[in-house]
Amino acid sequence: MIGPSGSPLGGPIGVFDSGLGGLSVLRHLVRDLPNESFVYVADSARAPYGARSSDEVRAFSEQIVTWLVEEQGCKLIVVACNTATAAAAKTLRAQRPDTPIIGMEPAVKPAARATCTGVVGVMATAGTIASEKYAALLHEYGEGLTLIEDPCVGLVQLIEDGHLDGGVLRQRLVDIITPMKAQRVDTLVLGCTHFPLVEAAIREVAGPGITVIDPAPAVARQVGRVLRERELNGEARASVQLFTTGDLGAFRQNVGRVWEGDFGEVRRLVM
Ligand code: DGL
Repeated sequence: MIGPSGSPLGGPIGVFDSGLGGLSVLRHLVRDLPNESFVYVADSARAPYGARSSDEVRAFSEQIVTWLVEEQGCKLIVVACNTATAAAAKTLRAQRPDTPIIGMEPAVKPAARATCTGVVGVMATAGTIASEKYAALLHEYGEGLTLIEDPCVGLVQLIEDGHLDGGVLRQRLVDIITPMKAQRVDTLVLGCTHFPLVEAAIREVAGPGITVIDPAPAVARQVGRVLRERELNGEARASVQLFTTGDLGAFRQNVGRVWEGDFGEVRRLVM
């Protein structure tokens, strides 16, 4: 059956990230959209994306989206990765005008509303911070704000390696967040989808005076809106399928630590 824009009705929603991070978005999508099925790709074999060139990240994103749309029949794509959104969303949309592509962006706009000191910390990858998309966001919403950006070197890899709590993670967060606090940051933007997976530790290090913003709930609401507008709503959930391009055992173990409830089978995807 073909929908109004030529995309298949009833297909799953495709979601991808460099690794575990996109699960912080997928969990909101699964909760908010009970009639949808999902196919999630963690490109763990090529993670982290943050230090890679934007050409490389764009090529990986195109490859994954091709598989999601052409092999899995996905009706909508969520780029659950700020780095991949910055590098590839524009190209992906131009290549696939019939498939809605929803991306992430650092929550500078909500941070501008939340801050009292006017000093906002942004935790994102080097790729996101250096992107044109981020510069455009600052141009639009950053007026009057002081942004303290940290590329959080090594933090995504720590999370991919399973440091989801404990001393090693905590020390890295102390090194990132303490200088921000010294500069009177009162609002912290989680500009990488891996970071909400360790939000409890981030909040603990940041302390009670700092508002922490995860854009994932807003992205899930936007996906719901686009499904309604394009008349692409599903009728019943068939499945939530997880794929990794990396080590199956390690990925399964990490998913078990961040995912509440059953997550079914995890499969290996060779790219
Ligand atoms: N989770 C990703 C993001 O939102 C990518 C992190 C990485 O692979 O460096 O930016």
